[in-house]
Amino acid sequence: MATTTHTTVLHPGYGFLRSLVRTYKSARKPIETMQESMARFQGTYAVNLGMMRVIATQDPGLIEHVLKNNHRNYQKSSIQTDYLGRFLGRGLLTANGDYWLKQRRLIQPGFHMDKIQALYGIMENTVNRFLHNFPAGTIDIYPLMHRLAFDMVIDTLFNVDVPAEKRTQLGSFISEVQEFVIKDVRQPYNRWWFRLSGEMSANLKKAEGARDVIRFLIRQRTATNTRHNDLLDMLLDARYEDNGEAMTESQVIDEILILLIAGHETTANALSWSLYLLAHNRAELLTLRNATAALTLNEVVMNPALSAVIKESMRLYPPAWISDRVALEDDVYNNYVIPKGTVIVSFYYGLHRDPKHWQAAQTFQPARFLGEGEKSTKKIFYPFGAGPRLCIGNNFAMAEMCIFLQAFLKQFDVHPGNTTPVIRPLVTLRPDRVELRIQNV
Ligand code: HEM
Repeated sequence: MATTTHTTVLHPGYGFLRSLVRTYKSARKPIETMQESMARFQGTYAVNLGMMRVIATQDPGLIEHVLKNNHRNYQKSSIQTDYLGRFLGRGLLTANGDYWLKQRRLIQPGFHMDKIQALYGIMENTVNRFLHNFPAGTIDIYPLMHRLAFDMVIDTLFNVDVPAEKRTQLGSFISEVQEFVIKDVRQPYNRWWFRLSGEMSANLKKAEGARDVIRFLIRQRTATNTRHNDLLDMLLDARYEDNGEAMTESQVIDEILILLIAGHETTANALSWSLYLLAHNRAELLTLRNATAALTLNEVVMNPALSAVIKESMRLYPPAWISDRVALEDDVYNNYVIPKGTVIVSFYYGLHRDPKHWQAAQTFQPARFLGEGEKSTKKIFYPFGAGPRLCIGNNFAMAEMCIFLQAFLKQFDVHPGNTTPVIRPLVTLRPDRVELRIQNV
């Protein structure tokens, strides 16, 4: 009887010293450095940092293996869970293991399509209020998209007039803490100084300040015992399958903080890049405006042309441009061994622009997401991740972005500005500024 022997080898990549050099380079120019290595090692390479072994990949098969097919063997790294959790609390994004699964099962039903549909009206009001004061002229639209995306999550969470000072307090606490977390992750060698100078504790206090505002809003709701058909109602109504109990107040605060954080910068990035790409592709802009100007609210959300533009923008500029997972046990993929403890970094930015998988990979062509063509993108397009940890807000995000884009194009024209955005990849793929020329239609 013939026997099959599997030879398993380690992925090729860099030795210890070169790994240190690449990591240093990568901290300054992550995308360029990773693209260089991907080209050199055909899409998957290992970095050996002594105690830590990292495999970076833009191979769709390995990404699918880690996120979906063998997801039980992989969990988020401690940077995402313990470290971010110190500032952001223990919500869906920062939890792992059994607690994550319990929370996901509890919250998932609130994000089903039919539940999200009940929020379209709130989203439309938020967009109308925002566009009412939208400035014309040559402006940096990025901070505006940030504000819109933040207002969307706040309004759909708390479908009441959130007092202006509470909204501002929450917004500034969250963005200041996020800025600090980014700085701290980027400059680990300065961490001792952040502790000594009190910057670390000041930011932990700000995170506590954000929790205080959320607590205030929850107590306002529970005290009046009124219903508002919003995400807060959904979180307060949710009951655990096993004991029929609701979340504690502190758990609700954790989940709200996470929804605010996970939901607003990603959306702000996607909208900014979408407008930027439309400004530079006039024919696409005019076709989209004509095709969508007369749609009803429900039709807007279901509209394939709007979705295709947003997806194509997230292909070229995936807001979540990277994700990480750690192997819980030794694993084998395609005859390569992945030792226990290896961190797998999925490089979505690289995969989304890989000419092996995409024709005219660098060109903005929304039509690739229309009709039958979209099927071929299924395993090579990961704007919302995949598998059990797929973005819980994906339908929410697509709905709010379609509603905004249609309303914006109806009222405004958009042309290139004088500068080109520079991408600042860290937790998300942020542009530094997105200068565009805005005119009333
Ligand atoms: C364009 C907008 C968005 C993009 C591109 C995006 C992308 C992602 C990605 C890639 C993940 C998975 C991360 C991983 O696998 O490590 C994720 C997770 C998550 N997202 Fe989003 N997201 C967006 C909008 C939103 C919105 C609007 C919300 C909520 C209102 C949200 C809430 C979450 C949460 C809670 C998780 C963690 C889910 C879990 O681990 O169970 N996201 N998102």
